[in-house]
Amino acid sequence: MRALVMTAPGGAENSEIRQIEAPHPGPGQVAIDVAWAGLNFVDVMARRGDAGYTAEWPYLPGKEVAGTVRELGEGVTGLAVGDRVVAAPVGGGLAEVVVADAVLTLPVPDGLELRTAAAAPLGLATAVLLLTDAGRLTAGDNVLVHSAGGGVGSAVAQLVPLLGGGGTLIGTVGRPEKAAAAVDLGYHHAFARDEKLADAVRTATGGRGVDLVLDPLGTAALELDLTVAAPGARIVLFGNAGGGEVGALPPLGRLMGGNLSVTGFSHRAFAATAPERLARAIRTTLDLQANSGLGIPLTELPGLEAVPAAHDAMQEGRATGKYVVRMGE
Ligand SMILES: NC(=O)c1ccc[n+]([C@@H]2O[C@H](COP(=O)([O-])OP(=O)(O)OC[C@H]3O[C@@H](n4cnc5c(N)ncnc54)[C@H](OP(=O)(O)O)[C@@H]3O)[C@@H](O)[C@H]2O)c1
Repeated sequence: MRALVMTAPGGAENSEIRQIEAPHPGPGQVAIDVAWAGLNFVDVMARRGDAGYTAEWPYLPGKEVAGTVRELGEGVTGLAVGDRVVAAPVGGGLAEVVVADAVLTLPVPDGLELRTAAAAPLGLATAVLLLTDAGRLTAGDNVLVHSAGGGVGSAVAQLVPLLGGGGTLIGTVGRPEKAAAAVDLGYHHAFARDEKLADAVRTATGGRGVDLVLDPLGTAALELDLTVAAPGARIVLFGNAGGGEVGALPPLGRLMGGNLSVTGFSHRAFAATAPERLARAIRTTLDLQANSGLGIPLTELPGLEAVPAAHDAMQEGRATGKYVVRMGE
């Protein structure tokens, strides 16, 4: 089968398409013929060689897929060969066949296209969990989202109203020219991350500040987050896009003084330690897609050959929205 293989830390020069043997499922696993796969920043971080993402080369990227069940491993029940499914595999999803744990392989509702469902297991489910479990969104919350124009950011813009938000929704972007796209995605305001940002956020919220911050920028924007946090705000840290050193968390007095909480979130840790909870979020996501109009704009890549350049665009902050690649459909 054809698979994207990252051969060494670096960039697109170390990504190549290889013929490798199709995997077979072990006990409790499912092999899937991949129809569409989602692209995610985590593979850019692994490709870059960020600490903690992969120690093993070659690395097989791809952590969210949609397709059909090809083979069931021992002990798997509730799924059958040919079923339309999505899955969150540990890796190897940017390939014609992937193996995933059955617990993280969910049926796709009738009427939902596999192309659309491919964004559910990682990108969209992360956005759901950020707003619900980690962020505890409540009606009227003002929400601030960094990297608003990307895959997770575009999902958050759609989900806030669907999940009963309704306060002011503010996005930040790395380049001013990306702000208009973020507004098109549903943000009430989108600002470049520059020295005027704190004032812009305060003005946009009528001086009140924000109740929830979703921040994938390591600790680079944490001081800003604390500055614009309303009393009782939740700050969810869920990435380190720049890949640099991570700084200290806020001192206790500052958290107590503002009744603030700082929370970490990791999809990968959920998959490893609480897969049923992640599976529930993926099911919720599929249901929102099938029945409540959740539908982020998708950029379709025609095949694996186009993936390294798309990873470049994500890494360099040139990408907007969510990318999915056609594999076998
Ligand atoms: N914790 C989790 O489980 C989890 C799950 C999914 C995603 N995430 C994180 O959420 C973010 C969005 O993920 P995605 O897959 O939807 O990707 P994405 O938003 O489509 O692309 C990543 C974005 O990160 C920003 N970026 C790239 N390089 C950067 C750098 N060196 N310094 C600062 N910002 C940089 C860019 O946007 P701007 O420059 O406009 O900000 C870029 O467009 C990523 O940081 C990812 O790691 C975390």
